[in-house]
Amino acid sequence: MMGKMRMHSASWRAATVLASVLLVGTMAACGNSDTGGGGTKDDGKITMGFSQVGAESGWRTANTTSIKESATAAGIELKFDDAQQKQENQIKAIRNYIQQKVDVIAFSPVVESGWDTVLKEAKDAGIPVILTDRSVDSADKTLYKTFLGSDFVKEGKLAGEWLVEQKKTATGPVNIVELQGNTGAAPANDRKKGFGEAIAANPNLKIIASQPGDFTRAGGKQVMEQFLKANKQIDVLFAHNDDMGLGALEAITAAGKVPGKDITIITVDAVKDGMQALADGKFNFIAECSPLLGPQLMDLAKKVHAGETVPARIETEETTFTQEQAKEALPNRKY
Ligand code: AHR
Repeated sequence: MMGKMRMHSASWRAATVLASVLLVGTMAACGNSDTGGGGTKDDGKITMGFSQVGAESGWRTANTTSIKESATAAGIELKFDDAQQKQENQIKAIRNYIQQKVDVIAFSPVVESGWDTVLKEAKDAGIPVILTDRSVDSADKTLYKTFLGSDFVKEGKLAGEWLVEQKKTATGPVNIVELQGNTGAAPANDRKKGFGEAIAANPNLKIIASQPGDFTRAGGKQVMEQFLKANKQIDVLFAHNDDMGLGALEAITAAGKVPGKDITIITVDAVKDGMQALADGKFNFIAECSPLLGPQLMDLAKKVHAGETVPARIETEETTFTQEQAKEALPNRKY
């Protein structure tokens, strides 16, 4: 009897030790708190909180689709918020994601400045942040893990260089009007800078008017109407995106001018509608900006969640299109 009891308590102790070992092993494998995730739930699935700028353009719609489809394909649970072009909405969404203890926060900042406080809150909560599409001007680069997106200065430069080449034989002034993106946005600041630097090569090229059209068709149309009223001779329009260029087409046609001929039109993005306008001879040149950032973003989210080091800057590959190139590319254009 005694022998039997001793045997029982020995195997009980062994079972207890085994259970503890298994429990510790499982917790370590889940890596709940030390892998860069701020989450407390541990079902193995990564949760991403994403704050989108809005739905202002064809580019943005394609970008949102890319992010949603890629999250599903990557098995990442996506919490998505549309900030309707307002920084305060983005800050609110990010704070909500921090409270919800998501594993990763990603966002496309509507403007460049004013993010330090909320980014610090995310960092203090142990939640990694990925910037996508647009960057911030924070001096402290440790507030986010990486920035995935285009080189907007380069896009503006490519647009300007094409114009310099087209107008190299011009003997008199070439009057340019510029439709900027929303005030304070990285693509508006950077495209303006790149374009301005490139056209400085020819003193005949002059920007005679420059105003924000907020990256929307309505904005582009309205501001172009004002430009046409205020300026007798407009030779070139540089629009910071296709949508503003498309809105401007309406204003130009209504003013009795032929877009693409009376006024040379240069835009950025290369979404389907813009490419169609280029192929139809209404636009003259487009510098591409790719919205298909979803697959790379999800890949980065998995890496930062696993505690891997990722490059601080990942630049999107892009090209440019003339009218002939647009005709060729259009049938296979995905967005
Ligand atoms: O940040 C990318 C820019 O934002 C696109 O060029 C524009 O179309 C969008 O609204």
